[in-house]
Parts: sequence; C-alpha cells; structure tokens
Amino acid sequence: MSDSRINTFLTLQGQTNQSPYLIDVERAEGIYIWDKTGKRYMDMIAGVAVNNIGHRHPKVIEAIQAQLEKHLHVMVYGEYIQDAQLALAENLASILPENLNCSYIVNSGTEANEAAIKLAKRYTARQEIISCKNSYHGSTHGSLSVTGNEEKKSSFKPLLPNIQFIEFNNIELLDLITK
Ligand SMILES: Cc1ncc(COP(=O)(O)O)c(C=O)c1O
Repeated sequence: MSDSRINTFLTLQGQTNQSPYLIDVERAEGIYIWDKTGKRYMDMIAGVAVNNIGHRHPKVIEAIQAQLEKHLHVMVYGEYIQDAQLALAENLASILPENLNCSYIVNSGTEANEAAIKLAKRYTARQEIISCKNSYHGSTHGSLSVTGNEEKKSSFKPLLPNIQFIEFNNIELLDLITK
C-alpha cells in the first residue's frame, strides 16, 4: 500500500488500536483476502467470525442480490412487515422454546444486548443486573456496563449502576440474585 494511501486512511478514519493491520483489501473469496498488490492472505479472523461460512458465499450473494431487486431500507422498529425479517423470526421461533417465540431484530451484537437490558428493565421494573467477569458484550454504554473487563471500561465511567459481576461456573454466586 502506498504511503499516501496509508496516511489518508490513518488521518481520515478512526482506528481502535495503535497498530492496525493495514491490509489494503481488494477482494475476498472463501477463506482468502487479497490485497491491492495481489498478495493473498488466509483469513483466520473471518470478520471476527461474522464470515464464518467464508467470504462471498454464493447463497449469501444470491440472497443479497434478490433483496436488492426488491427493496432496501423501508422502516425499522417493527412497523412494517418485511419478508426477510419475518422469515428470520419464523426460523428462530421454530428452533427456540415456545415462550421465546418473539424476535426484535437489530443490526449488531451490542444493539441486541442494549435491547435485552432495556426490555428486562421495562418488563420487570427491576434495576439490578448480574453479568460475568471476563465477558464481552459490545462497545455501547449499556453493553460496556455489563462487560466484565475493567480495561475496556475504565475510560468511560460512570456507566450503568447496580451491576454485579460473578464468575463463570461458580454456582454459589447465583445467590446474588435478589428479590
Ligand atoms: C459475545 C459478544 N457479544 C457482543 C458482541 C458485540 O457485537 P457487535 O460488534 O456486533 O456490536 C460481540 C462482538 O465480538 C461478542 O463477541
């Protein structure tokens, strides 16, 4: 990658660590990413596992193309009935327990956790939250509040109050659940 392209990237885009990989992506297919010089990398990260069926899987490309032909963004917040969302909700309901038959569809992991925290607070009118040490739940304020990693949180305090952290596999700590 040319120095000026690297500089443009480093100047005009935010990075989240001091030493970004700087792979200048031209294309990706299956397990490989190619950079603009033609160098091929085996992608062991897979988009942080998001592309765990490989880059540009033909079925994913086909589904995206079919959706492009119909519509893109029309409305969020569960207002309109949309084929893809309804199909996903039906699919989830078919594999989840009967009492978990209703999905609220969002764009990311952290939004899902924000929604879960808000839904639990609204439904129960309770405020205490118990989460696990060494957990990661996302980078927005609510998700960060329940993330069990001080290093990730320390610059953003105060976060949500009333959160207790327990250890994975320590069943006695479940006694922290209050009435
Ligand atoms: C367990 C877990 N929860 C939440 C998230 C946040 O997801 P997103 O990056 O889509 O907001 C991640 C992302 O790595 C995760 O691994």
